[in-house]
Order: sequence, then structure tokens, then C-alpha cells
Amino acid sequence: MAAREQKNFVCQSCGAASARWAGRCEACGAWNALVEEGTAMSGRAARKGRLFAIEPLKGSTQEAPRVACGIAEFDRVTGGGLVRGSVLLLGGDPGIGKSTLLLEVAAAYARAHHRAVYISGEEAVAQVRLRAERLGLGDAAVEVASETSVEDIVATLSHGSTPRLLVIDSIQTMWTQTVEAAPGTVTQVRGSAGELIRFAKRTGAAVILVGHVTKDGQIAGPRVVEHMVDAVLSFEGEGSQQFRILRAIKNRFGPTDEIGVFEMTGTGLRQVANPSELFLSERELGSPGTAVFAGMEGTRPLLVEVQALVAPTALGTPRRAVVGWDPNRLSMVLAVLEAHCGVRLSGHDVYLNVAGGLRIQEPAADVAAAAALVSSLVHAPLSTDAVYFGEVSLSGAVRPVAQTAARLKEAQKLGFMRAILPESARGEEFEQGLSLATVATLADLVSEIAARGNKPRTAPSRGIAAG
Ligand code: TYD
Ligand code: MG
Repeated sequence: MAAREQKNFVCQSCGAASARWAGRCEACGAWNALVEEGTAMSGRAARKGRLFAIEPLKGSTQEAPRVACGIAEFDRVTGGGLVRGSVLLLGGDPGIGKSTLLLEVAAAYARAHHRAVYISGEEAVAQVRLRAERLGLGDAAVEVASETSVEDIVATLSHGSTPRLLVIDSIQTMWTQTVEAAPGTVTQVRGSAGELIRFAKRTGAAVILVGHVTKDGQIAGPRVVEHMVDAVLSFEGEGSQQFRILRAIKNRFGPTDEIGVFEMTGTGLRQVANPSELFLSERELGSPGTAVFAGMEGTRPLLVEVQALVAPTALGTPRRAVVGWDPNRLSMVLAVLEAHCGVRLSGHDVYLNVAGGLRIQEPAADVAAAAALVSSLVHAPLSTDAVYFGEVSLSGAVRPVAQTAARLKEAQKLGFMRAILPESARGEEFEQGLSLATVATLADLVSEIAARGNKPRTAPSRGIAAG
């Protein structure tokens, strides 16, 4: 008697498998996401275990494990170049520039006499060539193919010298015979990635998988691949803005707090070696509600403009909207302003924006955000030659942050004259050149800004009254 066939339903959102169909995934709660897929082992007989060699941890590796491509912004984010046999997932919105970036990276490796292969499952070879010409890479020694079968790709690349870099654009277009699911499903994406990861580990080729991101910000399908790969990079940017930020979300072989900054031009991506200049370039000098934050992205200082708009609300519940910063931190700063600084904001809408589409993750931005908020509330422009940083605690104290010297150095390099910073930073050694104004509590900062703000506003009215 034939065994009853086991059904297998897989959530297309989180990859959880279940034996029964349901309207809602029990693991992640997504609706209508369960799709019947074949199991990886169906049709294949379980095989006996094979013996393998166990090696000591201490051993010699002949070849340089890591090779930089020479595109500094890319090398920094990967932790100094691609590690042999490693697999990296590059996620991002469609149209953000993933294919462009990887074609440039492949060309950079080819220029350094490494074999670089670019497989597109989305574009024909002619389209890839056209793009390369537009990027000025028409004569780069990159090998190109338009393919979607993982078995064919692995078989073809197992002949000849091992590629130093293999780009798969994108993982969602790949399919493998080892699983019975339809192309594009979670099971296929996972199966294809698994085969390519095995290829990378076996041959030592570094593989980059491109993954498209869905509306809710997750990498569709490839999300289930994230734990299988060695590194996950995300390529981000605002649609209307020209610059793009490459960020490491996970990296087994490097740091995860570094960013690479690029600008999308008519002839490809340009590296932005000094991002502070870019993020400050369109600064509205001297308007109320803007403060320059001296931040750090990994090991690199980065100056960005924090913009705030505080306006009386017409709604019962005032609006709080924030772009580029953590909404919870904004709520906290607002609460501290209300509780410890006498700033009433419950009747005001509050908007906070980090200029240039950058996303700040540091608590050190608290002081800059608070300064911008108060500046907007009292219509007092902050001095255009000052930078702000410091973390605010719930008690209203301004707490010291790491890497004060690097922040100050960057500010000085870009022509700033003053820094408003936590008091306890005073003891450290800094280069001279900036005048330092330390603040112990947020209330100190608020009263300093408020004192400046009330003068220009009341002066004209008094003049009229007198005349
Ligand atoms: P692409 O690399 O195809 O994005 P992805 O692979 O992430 O989907 O980039 C497409 C966008 O980039 C497209 O809107 C046009 C723009 N672009 C330029 O502005 N300059 C260029 O030199 C190239 C090649 C693309
Ligand atoms: Mg693409």
C-alpha cells in the first residue's frame, strides 16, 4: 500500500512550514501567505552518511582569505573586501541600484585580474552590456550570462578556474531541481541559495546574491536566506535623492556599523569620500529648527543636519512624525523637555527630519534633536557654525558619548567653530581650534536657546508700541 503523500505548506512571508493549510500563518501572523510546496526530500531516497575529515582549528591557509576590490566604500562595508568562499546577500528596493553597484564591483575585481562572473536572471546579456557601456565599463573583463538554473550555473562554473566573484542577480529568479516548488517561492529561494552556498564553500568563490525587498521593508523570500549567508548588506536611498547608502546588517567577517556612501549619477555610482560635505551641502543657513549633529557611523564621523518643525496643532491629538530617526527616542526627548525643561509641546505638532535621507541610530543625536526642536518652537536660529551632540537621560542630564575627539575633528575640518557637547567630555584630550560649550543638563541648553529666541521676536513689537 502506498504511503499517503505528506502535504507541505510554507509561509511565503517567514518560511515556516506546516502540514495543514490555514488562512493565517501561526508563526508570523501573515494572512493568506501559506502556499503548498514540495518538500526538499520528496522523490529522493535518504542516503547513508559519508565520512569526512575533521581538521584542527590551527592550520595554514595558503591564499589571502580576503581581497579588496578597490571601491573603498564597498570594501569598508564588507570589512575589507570579500572573503573567499563567503556568501553575501545584497538587499534593496527595486531600482535602487543593486545591479549597477555589483556590475561596478565585478569590473573592479576583473581589473585586478580576478575572475568575475555576473549572472543575470532578469536581464538579457545585451541589456547588461548596454548598462556596462553606460557605466564606462564596456571593456571590463567581466564574464556575463543570462541564466536561471542553479544546476546549470554550478555545472558551468565548476569547469575552468574558480571565479573569485560570482554575482547572482537576483536570487528570486533562480530555481533548482532539488526542490519541487514553483520558481519564486520561499522553498525555491532557500533551495537555490543552499546550492549556491555549497558551491561557494566547495570552491572558495565569493558569491553575492541580490535580493529584492518587499513593501514592508523585508527581503521577500530572501529573508529566509538571511541566516544561511555570511553577510547581509542593504542598499538604501530615498527615491528622490541621488545618494545611496550601503549598510551591513549582518557580517560574520566584519563590523556591522560601517556605511558606504554613493551618489547615483548619469554614468553610474560615484563614491562619496566625504559624506559630511554631501549631507550639509544644501543646508539652509540660519533658519530656525535646524541643528548640525556631529555623529559617527562606525569608525567614520558624519555631520548631518537635523530639522525640526514645531507648530500649534489643530488636532485633538498632536502629530508626531519622524523621518530618519527612532520615533521612540523622539518621544523620550519630548517627554524630558516637558518634564524637566518647562517646554510645553502637548499643544504642538512635531516633525523631525534627518536631511539627505540618512537614518541616524545613535542616542548621541538627542541633544541635536532637542536643540532643533526648541529652536523651531521659539523661532530662534541656532548659530550656523556650531555642531551638537550628546545623549539625554530621562533625568534630563546630558551624558557623554563615545569618540568625542573624532566628532570634533570632523567638525573642525568642515569649518565649524563651536561645539555644544556633554560636560564630562571636558577632561579628554582634544585638538585645539574649536570653542567648546559644555552642557550639563538639557534645561541649560533650552534656556540658552530660549533666551536667544525671545529677543528678536519681542524687539520689533516693542519698537512699534513705543512709536
Ligand atoms: P539598477 O541597478 O537597475 O537597480 P536595481 O538592480 O536595484 O533594481 O538601477 C536602476 C536605476 O538606476 C534606474 O532608475 C536608472 C538609474 N541609473 C542611473 O541613474 N545611472 C546609471 O548609470 C545607471 C546604470 C542607472
Ligand atoms: Mg537589478
